[in-house]
Amino acid sequence: MTASRDIACRVRGFGAYTPVDVLTNFDLEKIVETTDEWITTRTGIKQRHRLAEGQNASDAAAEAARLALADAGMEPGEITHVINATCTPDYLCPNTACLIEAKLGIVGAMAFDFNAACSGYVYGLSMARAIVAAQPEARVLLTATEALTRRLNWADRSTCVLFGDGAGASVITADGEGALLEDVRCASDGNLGGLLTIGGGTSTPYAKGDPIGDDFFVQMNGRDVFKHAVRNMAAISQEVLERNGLTTDDVALLIPHQANLRIIEAVGDRLGIPTERVFVNLHEFGNTSAASVPLAIADARAKGVLRPGMRVLLATFGGGFTWGAALLHF
Ligand code: ACO
Repeated sequence: MTASRDIACRVRGFGAYTPVDVLTNFDLEKIVETTDEWITTRTGIKQRHRLAEGQNASDAAAEAARLALADAGMEPGEITHVINATCTPDYLCPNTACLIEAKLGIVGAMAFDFNAACSGYVYGLSMARAIVAAQPEARVLLTATEALTRRLNWADRSTCVLFGDGAGASVITADGEGALLEDVRCASDGNLGGLLTIGGGTSTPYAKGDPIGDDFFVQMNGRDVFKHAVRNMAAISQEVLERNGLTTDDVALLIPHQANLRIIEAVGDRLGIPTERVFVNLHEFGNTSAASVPLAIADARAKGVLRPGMRVLLATFGGGFTWGAALLHF
């Protein structure tokens, strides 16, 4: 057993934020050749939220973080680490974690971004656990925030209908009350990275005045993503359960990454978890990538679906490809 698994890791506060502006499937019918019926039957999504002009991923994360800190009964000044999951940062530099830190009035914490696309929150739990194992007095703020609508090609109906903006946050410590992180496991396969991309990085050299290309936006081979998402989310969930001597009967609630209702149902089927024990809110928010799992946790708590005493299985999959699963005992 590793040192990080010997030290308790508590997820003490949860918060989520979605922007006010809502874009329904009917709104999209006016922008691109699609229908509410197609989007609903193929994905389960009915609407998504969109950041306002001038509002960025760091603003959404700071809102979610304030709620998570209040939920944990902690002040921003107690935070020692700000770790932020995003694939849509405000800038390449400075990192979004530093911007979030400044917005919360924190100075002096270790602050950095990481990109595991939709798997960001589960990857973040793994990192937070390692931080509190190495430094038990650490107070880690984990944020997951996305501004995906800023990187959608509104002429590509196969991608622009899928995504939304939002943020989630948690506070993680070795001590105190809160959900016990029983286990977390993360994985990846970089050979498949080309199946889901968002450009804007330095691999495409742009000169001032150059037009931006399609590669600047989300591009995806939806069918391949679908296949790999189902297979890997189910397999890693099973692996995490087995190595803890548990079965799906021990799981009160599955909270999967909210990408597509058909992916979620297929993962639930493979694991043998009935739909009433699978949390779904993508009809309200679309796919918010890294934010989707913490957004779903906060939402499930607010709706009374997730209650104290429950063991929750988190399962996720995203660009990279990356995937992961975690067990949280509330
Ligand atoms: N409205 C109407 N028609 C559409 C739309 C749309 N928005 N998008 C695609 N179509 C059309 C296509 O052009 C195609 O038409 P054709 O047969 O005349 O060529 C037809 O619908 C079928 O297209 P497919 O791509 O085969 O549709 P599919 O059933 O595979 O559904 C979807 C596409 C929803 C993207 C699906 O593949 C999927 O959900 N994949 C998973 C990807 C995902 O969720 N990614 C999220 C990011 S990754 C992550 O978070 C894990």
